[in-house]
Amino acid sequence: MFLNNIKKYYNEKLVLVIEMLEIEKGKITGIIGPNGSGKSTLLNIIGGLDEDYLGTIAYDPKVTNQKPYDTMTLVSQKPYLFKRKVYENIEYPLKIRNINKADMKKKVNRIISRLELEDLKEKKAHLLSGGESQKVSLARALVFEPELLLLDEPTSNIDPESIKILEREIVRFNKETGATIIIVTHNLEQSNRICDRIIYLENGRVSS
Ligand SMILES: Nc1ncnc2c1ncn2[C@@H]1O[C@H](COP(=O)(O)OP(=O)(O)O)[C@@H](O)[C@H]1O
Ligand SMILES: [Mg+2]
Repeated sequence: MFLNNIKKYYNEKLVLVIEMLEIEKGKITGIIGPNGSGKSTLLNIIGGLDEDYLGTIAYDPKVTNQKPYDTMTLVSQKPYLFKRKVYENIEYPLKIRNINKADMKKKVNRIISRLELEDLKEKKAHLLSGGESQKVSLARALVFEPELLLLDEPTSNIDPESIKILEREIVRFNKETGATIIIVTHNLEQSNRICDRIIYLENGRVSS
């Protein structure tokens, strides 16, 4: 996808200026930068959650400003989970797609096992810790198998042991499905471990 002349203002303040940026299909791109550098703003614009900006995003290089990828999921830093069991939260994206019951069960259990969430699956999702919620919301995003996966600091509240598991599964998802992944992080080691390319943001601008 190509970003062209993106500008974002909050009130009168310019918080994001991106002249040109290519995000490669099928790759894992990291966006890193300090607090307030515009990472979440950029991700929300790419994800279509924020439509109040100047410039164009061409998801397909031949056309400008057309609909984003068919299937796209943005996992925000403070994920919202239903007041239901973890299992039901993870199952939800498949349920609304009318996938047959047996396949659905297989997919949900596979993701639970890959992310090592067996101990959480019967728990009420709204009673989970911040880190546990992040893991569950990543599972819910992966089970949907989106073509474009946008992750906003997905491991910020997570212990080192679980970070390894999540990184492994993010990479595996990319390899198995060829999905395009953009991961916002302020952890340089993490982006070095899993990203094909890293974009540095500083004061709303790409620096290299
Ligand atoms: N809803 C908002 N209203 C006004 N300013 C905002 C809003 N959201 C973010 N900002 C400002 O925009 C800048 C970029 O924020 P953000 O994209 O959240 O940074 P990051 O995710 O890199 O920490 C910051 O200066 C922040 O204060
Ligand atoms: Mg942010």
